[in-house]
Amino acid sequence: MASSMLKYATSSVVKKQVMALTGLLLCGFLLTHLAGNCLMYVGPEAFNRYAHALITNPAIYLAEAILAAIFLTHIGLAAKLTIENRNARPQKYFVKQNTGRGATFASSTMPYTGLIILIFLIKHLIDFKFGPLHVVTYGGVEMRDIYKTVVDYFASPVSVIWYVFCMVALGIHVSHGFWSAFQSFGFWHPKYTCLLRCVSKIFAVIVTVGYSALPIYCYLQGGN
Ligand code: HEM
Repeated sequence: MASSMLKYATSSVVKKQVMALTGLLLCGFLLTHLAGNCLMYVGPEAFNRYAHALITNPAIYLAEAILAAIFLTHIGLAAKLTIENRNARPQKYFVKQNTGRGATFASSTMPYTGLIILIFLIKHLIDFKFGPLHVVTYGGVEMRDIYKTVVDYFASPVSVIWYVFCMVALGIHVSHGFWSAFQSFGFWHPKYTCLLRCVSKIFAVIVTVGYSALPIYCYLQGGN
């Protein structure tokens, strides 16, 4: 009994469902992070006060720990499933069967776009979260001028191109991941296939355009 439960818990179906759940939670994070970043359009004070309110909230450590756990679970399971799938394939080259639900560019490049996002994320945290520290004071409260850190960073066209490239990869990744997550939960019906694919594509466009627009906007501002 215990061994069959263990087998179930480690089966690839469960792994896929955990990946789907963590992937959808990360999609939620992408939307909230994008909404927060849009305060950059309002101005330095709005963005800096928002960032200050976030990092001085005592719940931030718990939130960051949960976020890190979600990211690590998603990445760890993705790597494990990719390796398992490769090992399970008898030949390197095989004839693809036409099931009508075959591989797309987005689905077959998931490990590569995922790797680009991982590299992006590590660099992103180094550049912004642990990046240059500038200080500003509003109404007698001293806080980090994270607005300046971001605007200075995007004064370089190389940084802007890198971001746009990574955001295209992110868009391709979520365009398949979002819709595939529902399939992993068994939510598949010909009636809703088109709708789900459309919602995934719209989500991917919002993420790519939304996150690419800010670096371009900052660049056009010409630095701080
Ligand atoms: C235009 C694009 C983006 C901008 C301008 C931006 C800006 C920022 C800034 C300023 C921070 C530091 C916040 C602070 O420490 O106060 C941050 C943190 C972070 N960003 Fe982004 N971000 C962008 C895109 C993304 C994307 C696409 C992802 C995910 C794939 C992402 C994931 C994160 C994570 C996980 C953190 C750390 C959050 C925390 O520790 O609380 N960011 N971002």
